[in-house]
Amino acid sequence: MCGIVGYIGRADAASVLINGLRRLEYRGYDSAGMAVMDEGRMVVVKAPGKVAALNERARARWPDGSFNRAASGIAHTRWATHGPPTEANAHPHLDNSGGIALVHNGIIENYRALRSRLEGKGHVFHSDTDTEVLSHLIGDCHQGDLFQAVCDALHQVEGTYGIAVMAVAEPGRIIAARCGSPIVIGIGDGETIIASDAAAIIAHTRQVIYLNDRDVAVVTADAVNIRDLDNVPVDREVARLAFDSSAAEKGGFEHFMLKEIHEQPDALRNAIRGRLDFHLGTAVLSGMGTSPRDLAEINRVVLLGCGTSLHAGLVGEYAFEDLADVHAEVQQAAEFRYRNPILGPRDMVVAISQSGETADTLAAVRESGQKGAFVMGLCNVVGSTIARETGRGVFLHAGPEISVASTKAFTCQVAVLLMMALKLGRGRRLSRDEGMRLAREIESIPELVAATILQNDHIAEVAARYAHHEHAFFIGRGPLYPVALEGALKLKEISYLHAEGYHAAELKHGPIALLEQGTPVVAMANAVPGQDKTLGNIEECRARGARIIGVVTAGDSRVVGLVDDAIEVPACHPLVATVPSVVALQLLAYHIARHRGCEIDQPRNLAKSVTVE
Ligand code: G6P
Repeated sequence: MCGIVGYIGRADAASVLINGLRRLEYRGYDSAGMAVMDEGRMVVVKAPGKVAALNERARARWPDGSFNRAASGIAHTRWATHGPPTEANAHPHLDNSGGIALVHNGIIENYRALRSRLEGKGHVFHSDTDTEVLSHLIGDCHQGDLFQAVCDALHQVEGTYGIAVMAVAEPGRIIAARCGSPIVIGIGDGETIIASDAAAIIAHTRQVIYLNDRDVAVVTADAVNIRDLDNVPVDREVARLAFDSSAAEKGGFEHFMLKEIHEQPDALRNAIRGRLDFHLGTAVLSGMGTSPRDLAEINRVVLLGCGTSLHAGLVGEYAFEDLADVHAEVQQAAEFRYRNPILGPRDMVVAISQSGETADTLAAVRESGQKGAFVMGLCNVVGSTIARETGRGVFLHAGPEISVASTKAFTCQVAVLLMMALKLGRGRRLSRDEGMRLAREIESIPELVAATILQNDHIAEVAARYAHHEHAFFIGRGPLYPVALEGALKLKEISYLHAEGYHAAELKHGPIALLEQGTPVVAMANAVPGQDKTLGNIEECRARGARIIGVVTAGDSRVVGLVDDAIEVPACHPLVATVPSVVALQLLAYHIARHRGCEIDQPRNLAKSVTVE
């Protein structure tokens, strides 16, 4: 989603900004722009499309080679919400005087009312965006002190923002502020970098400050001074970034997605390491902050998430019910606060979010907290808003996930949810022996995944046979039903093929009408409880001419002859089987998209982290 970079220091700002934007490209965007202070003038360059196009335009703007002379600037990658991805709509946006520039993530909800009020005062707007209203509003409030103008303007807006602002009249400082959209400030040696995501900072420094909602920071090359919207100083601690920048390189793989699929055995080892107790047959997840008594008192688990994280939650639902005999339910996070969620202190809410920044999941976390539930986060990004606001939970330790289509985060989320369910289950229904057996099964997940990845070449051949189709169905039962949903999601995200995931039993309640000669049906045909029924559903599809790609258990002779193409996963516990099975589907989607020539790491219209509602 939209990305912000700001720089002030000794290096040339334009290059730092372009490189920073490149680091944020993975988030998904459709136009880019920057404003730099060049010899006392505000120079703005914007381009629809990629950062490479912006770079070309910026270099053409300074044909004499003086591209590298600005010492401060702000830049943005925009993911269109209000108005198409045109040059006029790209950020930065200027105020009416042209002397103040602003980049913004989030949405100003009352922009229409503000815009007509400002138009009434003679302001002329040049874009369809909500953001331009904020730049004009700041200009309108500006009476010589940019910090105060920003505070005064922000008092008038409703909605969410992460912003960086600079003014010609006040060179040498950038104002940054946040409410609902992350801002991180990197403190370097004689330079300061502002960004919406630490990925743009790590090349410069590891010392960072995360702004909280309502914080406004005055940033210079040597200092960061933070106050709240009412001008009261606030103290924010300096944190240290843990990951190194090489984790954000492709490491010889053609795409980040393929690299991240291959990283899964290691990512899973990191997610599991030190968290299984084979003696007591349980999981050690101290970050959950639960005493045995808390665990005994929990009478419901509510799993919240969006997209792929929602699908991980659906697997978790089966795990909590099967292993812990506890009522579990998954809630789509966007819907949560608009219904009447019945929550109390005996409900454990697990907010699942790779980025820890998804606006809907964050809002659901806040709603759950207000209703008195026991809320925890299951996040990958340390320091993210959900991780900080919940203050308890479990980190995935999957390493940075760059590809927009989530892969290793999903499998690590499932592994952690299985461990949570094991931990809860040991206090309830699982004996020590059962717990130990399950802990061994969970421990084996990285090897099961590694064995599945060995079939990469075979899966690529299967993919080649189906890449020309425009529709596909994915079916599964039990915990493999959410795997079917996730497989279909992966395929549509990156190949733009129309793919639908269904419970295998639902197929004949409607979707079967769409099957034609040759329609691909990807069936989760693993040798797990319910397999008989799934094999029956496969027969029904075959009878209508569908071609079946079966995800099957290695050596299972029952499926031979029933499927046209088989992808094998090793035999294992039915809940554990979700992980290698989804890896097979990730690879299938990847190779189909590659055959179709799609832009795999940055699919059209998608964003890595959806920070608007
Ligand atoms: C976006 C991403 C998905 C992701 C979802 C939830 O839609 O493209 O890959 O699953 O957001 O993100 P989160 O960071 O909360 O897991």
